[in-house]
Amino acid sequence: MMFAEELLDTLRQARHVVVFTGAGVSAESGIPTFRDRLDGLWSRLPPATLATTAAFRADPSLVWGWYQWRRTLVHRAQPNPAHRAIAELAGMVPQLTLITQNVDDLHERAGSQDVIHLHGQLERPRCFTCGREPGSPLPAPDEPQAGRHVIPPACEHCGGPLRPGVVWFGESLPADALSQAFHAAEQCDLLISVGTSGVVYPAAEIPQVAWRMRATVLHVNPQPGPLHGEREFALASAAGVALPALLDAAFAG
Ligand code: OAD
Repeated sequence: MMFAEELLDTLRQARHVVVFTGAGVSAESGIPTFRDRLDGLWSRLPPATLATTAAFRADPSLVWGWYQWRRTLVHRAQPNPAHRAIAELAGMVPQLTLITQNVDDLHERAGSQDVIHLHGQLERPRCFTCGREPGSPLPAPDEPQAGRHVIPPACEHCGGPLRPGVVWFGESLPADALSQAFHAAEQCDLLISVGTSGVVYPAAEIPQVAWRMRATVLHVNPQPGPLHGEREFALASAAGVALPALLDAAFAG
């Protein structure tokens, strides 16, 4: 792959890099994205039937079963070269902040630390009624099929149903994660946005904030959107190919 010298220099000289990821970074691990035309999760099932408090109230075991199926996919999956390149990059630059919209743990399993999860985590359920988290982790999922109903476990404190620890439509993002993410976007000199369609707000504002605060922005996406021009680059390629190649070009030799 060929890279603009200006981009390579920006990466080599950056003091603070923000990496901002979406579902596309896990696509090569076999985890479906949300909006890809053929196999996007939301193209098969409208999110309002599964990813809202109203949906959970109406049919908790449908919603819990669907998230157990997603846990199964994540448990079976392995981090891919994109997750690994991001973890490696943290050791190559003075400061790196990793912000993800993903609810999987593939960044952590690739070796990234202190990942900011803007949309929550599959492995951090909490009580739908009292909000408290269980004392022990969920057992490994038992291979449910998509669409199978699974009764949510009861909260050990109040007996209410556990709900997935993810952000649903209409809910606020976790305040700490959000403020850390915006703070990093304001401070960084390079933001690398990987595998996100950039249509879900407020997360989608993060690269825009970095760009307005004069950072360079790089998009890694086989289908990149339109660019502003100045201080903005795109690599129209799969993340698992583009990110290792970028690190090689910038830092090898
Ligand atoms: P989307 O499904 O909206 O977008 C995935 C993006 O990844 C698309 O732009 C694809 O072109 C790109 N892509 C696909 N394969 C790729 C690859 N191998 N390498 C790089 N890019 C690739 O997913 P998100 O932008 O993450 O929120 O969606 C944002 C939010 O919408 C999600 O966090 C979720 C969803 O509703 C909640 O559930 C709160």
